[in-house]
Amino acid sequence: MGQTTLQRLVFLSSLLICTTNQASLTVSPSSSQMFGGQSVSLSCEEDDSSAGWTLRRNTTRETRTQCGSAEWGRSAGSSCDISYIAEWDSGVYWCESREGATSNTINITVTDGPVILQSPVLPVMEGHDVTLRCETKTSSNLPAGFYKDGSFIRTEPDGHMTIRHVSRSDEGLYKCNISSVGESEPSWVTVTGEEVRFYFKTEFIQIVT
Ligand SMILES: *[C@@H]1O[C@H](CO)[C@@H](O)[C@H](O)[C@H]1NC(C)=O
Ligand SMILES: *[C@@H]1O[C@H](CO)[C@@H](O)[C@H](O)[C@H]1NC(C)=O
Repeated sequence: MGQTTLQRLVFLSSLLICTTNQASLTVSPSSSQMFGGQSVSLSCEEDDSSAGWTLRRNTTRETRTQCGSAEWGRSAGSSCDISYIAEWDSGVYWCESREGATSNTINITVTDGPVILQSPVLPVMEGHDVTLRCETKTSSNLPAGFYKDGSFIRTEPDGHMTIRHVSRSDEGLYKCNISSVGESEPSWVTVTGEEVRFYFKTEFIQIVT
């Protein structure tokens, strides 16, 4: 085996090791903040269902509890439904395989308050636009003030603020308020450099050996 072939073998097998058994978690509706009472669906998109992915969460009351256990959720394959989300469902959610591999995490904040900030649940790609929405239970286009890391940014007449071509410096803790209604909880917006997601099939092993 030549040196180049060997290098390629090492490179490909290390890619293979790093990238098999992956899952990514999505949530619908896609918002990091929600009003109590909404129904919510979480889904593990996996490339190997035999790895036994399950949804887990940490809240202020629970650690690593599994969907469909006594504590929360109704499990449906690699998805999980919460029919009536409440404040104590606030926390961090992720998918975990039997071997302990984990997906991305999603933070969900459920509020009893009158205002939510709709912000992306997943990291925003550098250079993309992001829109933050300030909503009440009944309206999504009232004038709203937006804040980042505690500092006022600006008032938007229609309740939504778009940040164009986001960069790392846009990363931070955002919140909003609506006059004579109230203020939202804060949510973290993450900006990421590039999306790294590979899918490999086992045929790959045959190519390199
Ligand atoms: C969940 O909580 C446990 C115990 O506090 C901690 O070790 C773990 O890192 C948490 N997981 C996430 C994804 O935050
Ligand atoms: C947000 O709250 C501040 C402080 O209470 C208030 O002065 C401002 O008018 C509010 N902005 C909006 C759009 O409601």
